[in-house]
Amino acid sequence: MKVKLKIAILLLTITFLSFKSIQEPVLFSVPANFPKPDYPFENNPITVAGVELGKTLFYDAALSSDNTISCGSCHQQSAGFTQHGHILSHGVNDRLSKRNAMPLFNLAWASNFGWDGIAPHLDLFAVSPITNPVEMDESLENILEKLRATPLYADLFEKAFGSREINNDRLLKALSQFMLTMVSANAKYDRYVRKEGLKLSDIESEGLVLFKQKCASCHSGELFTDFSFRNNGLALRERDKGRFEISQNDADIYKFKVPSLRNLTYTTPYMHDGRFATLEQVLEHYAAKVEKTDYLDPILNKDGKVGIEMNTDEQKKIIAFLKTLDDEDFVKNPMFSESTLISDIPKKNIDVEIKNFTINDADTRALFKQGIETYFKIKAAIAKKNTLEAAEGARVLIKTLNRVRITEAAQKSFFENYQEKLFLDAKRIIEGERFFAHQFDHFDELSEHLYILLASFKVNDRVLYFNECKRSDMKWISDSATDSFVPDNCNDVHTKTLNL
Ligand code: HEC
Ligand code: HEC
Repeated sequence: MKVKLKIAILLLTITFLSFKSIQEPVLFSVPANFPKPDYPFENNPITVAGVELGKTLFYDAALSSDNTISCGSCHQQSAGFTQHGHILSHGVNDRLSKRNAMPLFNLAWASNFGWDGIAPHLDLFAVSPITNPVEMDESLENILEKLRATPLYADLFEKAFGSREINNDRLLKALSQFMLTMVSANAKYDRYVRKEGLKLSDIESEGLVLFKQKCASCHSGELFTDFSFRNNGLALRERDKGRFEISQNDADIYKFKVPSLRNLTYTTPYMHDGRFATLEQVLEHYAAKVEKTDYLDPILNKDGKVGIEMNTDEQKKIIAFLKTLDDEDFVKNPMFSESTLISDIPKKNIDVEIKNFTINDADTRALFKQGIETYFKIKAAIAKKNTLEAAEGARVLIKTLNRVRITEAAQKSFFENYQEKLFLDAKRIIEGERFFAHQFDHFDELSEHLYILLASFKVNDRVLYFNECKRSDMKWISDSATDSFVPDNCNDVHTKTLNL
């Protein structure tokens, strides 16, 4: 009986799904507890083909000058579309930007973009990271040229906009379409206010009451921001004057956009420069460390009292409430993730970077061999999602390859260049010691850089294989052509042999 019921439900679901796929799937809808969106959809209606193009662009490193950084490099889904583990975001050549990457969600409700509100419209924002020398350092003209050189894009633009023309307006509109679909409104709190059968615990409810009294004047409404620019009393750091840098109005000095407070568990660290690692530090700031300056928002300086009065117990309750704003469905929704792209991602041909060097020195070869074995240990740990073991492996890999000495000048500089990249990847894996998604995000780059080194120096003494998923960036090295390490969503692997 039970089995029959299950089958009936399954059949119903299949019928429902196939019916849905004849119609357009719902790409954007306003959650019942949200206000009316701000974005003018009439100028850029969202379509399946437009979103697909936008997503392909979002995850395409061709948007950066050296083809290494995509929007998705700094805006990672598992981190609420921030750059996990980074206080300040890293762009091309690992240049540091002066700010912490902002989370991306519920952008249809925002009326300005960036910590300083540099763009009044979502469609205009992408120009800023693309052209910023510390982010993607590329020009729109060059990007259009690169996109025009791949037939894939002409097809995608045609499906999205009706002709094969590739221009700025279409590029930016497609990026917006994809970003607009990123709606986060399924946290415990949302399901509680929508009365979907979920209750807040006592401490969470008490936290909500306190939050309304103490925080909601700025972090207001269901979006948890009023989109204004304010100074919340952080110790001033000269190098960034916030909103003033755009408006040149003295009244805006050291003001930054009031951010949403959704998904905080995923988006650490906090504030425009990522200065706080934990919510405890944030609450302690408001309770005890608000700096009284000429710039401080009057709400934080009422009746001669600087900051927000809260004891540690109240701070704990507010934090418990803030955690009810974490939306796990959002950070795991495959609609937004790179690996489910419908089309193949245009791949840069990394083989052009491979050199034809030889190393005869036995010690050096032995170190490389150890490096390969350590890589396989990291890979096995990643396969088991054992983050501690993967981080340990990454430490050993750095130690081992640090001992490699190459004397010939051209070989030495090539080696050092890739060694630096590889170490950076290994450090990301160490950073992800307790965060699997971060390790997984960086494992493909580690594999790519090691592959380029091995293929250039031909130091392996058994045949190895380099594997790439066609529809995502995932890459890995294996010692068998039919390797069991195939990540989810990678049913289309391309394998090449690394000869001896
Ligand atoms: C090098 C890292 C980096 C890259 C690459 C990057 N961003 Fe960002 N993004 C940031 C940072 C840092 C901010 C905050 C910017 C500021 O205030 O100056 C930000 C902010 C944003 C915002 C504003 C969000 C809000 O709520 O105000 C949007 C939208 C955005 N990025 C989209 C994109 C798109 C689209 C791309 C690709 C074309 C991209 N980003 C590439 C780091 C990056
Ligand atoms: C006077 C307005 C105001 C009040 C009141 C206020 N905040 Fe903020 N909050 C801000 C501003 C502005 C920022 C961004 C500051 C920056 O980065 O320079 C911010 C940032 C934050 C952040 C960092 C979010 C991120 O994504 O980096 C958290 C968390 C936060 N506030 C929590 C709270 C809590 C909890 C309360 C109540 C105890 C509160 N805020 C009260 C204005 C306010």
